[in-house]
This record gives sequence, C-alpha cells and structure tokens, in this order.
Amino acid sequence: MIITRTKKELHRYLKLIRDAEKSVGFVPTMGALHEGHLSLIRCSNNENNFTVVSIFVNPLQFNNPEDLEKYPRNEERDLDILLSAFCDIVFIPDIREIYPEKDERVFDFDGLDKVMEGKYREGHFNGVAQVVSKLFEIVKPDKAYFGRKDFQQVAIIKFLNKNYLSHLNIDIVTCDTIREADGLAMSSRNELLDSVQRKSASLISKTLKKYTKIYESISKRELIDKITREINKDKNLKVEYVDIVDDETLRTVDKIKPGKTTVCVAVYCGKVRLIDNMPF
Ligand code: PAJ
Repeated sequence: MIITRTKKELHRYLKLIRDAEKSVGFVPTMGALHEGHLSLIRCSNNENNFTVVSIFVNPLQFNNPEDLEKYPRNEERDLDILLSAFCDIVFIPDIREIYPEKDERVFDFDGLDKVMEGKYREGHFNGVAQVVSKLFEIVKPDKAYFGRKDFQQVAIIKFLNKNYLSHLNIDIVTCDTIREADGLAMSSRNELLDSVQRKSASLISKTLKKYTKIYESISKRELIDKITREINKDKNLKVEYVDIVDDETLRTVDKIKPGKTTVCVAVYCGKVRLIDNMPF
C-alpha cells in the first residue's frame, strides 16, 4: 500500500496507473475507519483495478468547532485497517495541500441543502462540496463511492458531480448502510458514546425499522410523531428532526411511495449527534 501526503507524489502514482490504462476507484473519508468505510473499499476493489482512499478531516464542513475538535483521529489504526482491506493508495493531505488558498466558493444545490441536515448544520454541505470537488479534481477517478448512511450527502454529491464537475466524467456509486449487530448504523462518532449511551443508540434504527414496516396503517404526521416519541422515551436520546422525503428531491412528501421514499432522522445521544435513514 502506498501512503502519500502530497498531490505531487499522488499524481506520479496515478500517472503510472493511467499510462497502463487501468481504472481508479476513489473512497473519500475523514478517517476513524470502520466496517462502513471498508464496504466502500470492497465495492471499489471489485469494480476497479486500483482503489485510492483519502483521509482528511475537512474543517470547512464542521459548523461546530467542538465537533471538529472531538472528531476521532487515529492514523496508525486507520493504516492497519486499510492495509487489511487491500487499499492500493492512501492519500493523507494536510490542510495546505487541499486549501493552498482560502476557498470561498459557494455552491447552489437547488434547494437540496435547505432541508434536514442543511437546516441544522449551516454551511455543512457547502464545505462537503468544497472538499469533494477538490479531491475529485486531484484524483480524477473513474468511480467514487459513498455510503447511503449519509443519505442527503449522496444527493448533494450527485448534484455537484452533474452540475459542477461533469468534465471529470466520474460515476457516483452508492453503497448500503452497514450496521452493528443491534442495528446501529456504523459511524466514526459512535466511538464517542459511553457504554450506556451506546446501548440507547440502538433504539434509533429499531424504531425506524418498526415504522417503515407498518407505515400503511398510519398517517404521515402520526408516523413522524410516533417515531419522535418512541425515540425520545429513552432519556439518553433527543430527536432533532424526523423527516419523510422523496428519494430524488429530498422534499417532504405527503404520500409514502415504497421504493421512492425514505425516513431520515438526526438524534442527539448525549452530546453526540447521530443520523440514520431507512427506505420504505
Ligand atoms: P466519513 O464520515 O468518514 O464517511 C466516508 C464515507 O463512508 C461516506 O461516503 C459515508 O457515507 C460512508 N459511511 C459512513 N458510515 C457508513 C456506514 N455505516 N455504512 C456505509 N457507508 C458509510 O462522509 C464523510 O466522511 C465526509 O463528508 C467526506 C465525504 C469524506 C467529505 O469530507
């Protein structure tokens, strides 16, 4: 596995790959790797000759300085995990490599960033687009892999790719959410939960699972109320939002269409903010 911290060195390796007419899959991450990340790497390995993984905790997408400071970082452990996952190249840039100058670009996502996460984390998706567009321009992969766990992020990345980065011809591939045995969606932030909170957190996915099965007998409003109440019953959990949205437009729907509608939630577990979603 090649470990590189500079664009210059990365480009040297990528040129060799391109000269040999081999394909490149790309998995951008912020590190603190877990099985969710590994599933993306496996998917990329299956579909490409080489897989590049980036590790970069992007300050521009953190709207809360405490969240950025507390974000788990463990490079040594991540490198061991990447080696065992057959990653070919890991790119670990420092901030000057990505943002040599102040990045003041403002993206227009046609409203996709105005709902759910966008409402509660101002500027978050602009920050995601800033870093992902930089990384795409640096790596120029054939395909890039993202997890459905971050449902709204996938919609934003697809929009960005189509409307701002079409010259790069990148295919965006979405991979399923990987869960712990008790259903909790894997997340780097789960590391920040204590054992009691960790137990409580499993109620989030359990509740979504329950109500995505019995949605036909209840109205949408009632569904949102019931999900909210059921999660809030646990004193360690506090719902920030529950929304039921169209998979394409992310707009709140009145009528649930199986296969086209998703329920999305953000829940505080102590100070840790967790998100999850489930299709109907
Ligand atoms: P990060 O949270 O590290 O996630 C990297 C990728 O792993 C994202 O595509 C995310 O959706 C995916 N992922 C996380 N948990 C997952 C799970 N349980 N199952 C499947 N996939 C999962 O998302 C980011 O980083 C950043 O916003 C980034 C795109 C790297 C830009 O900075």
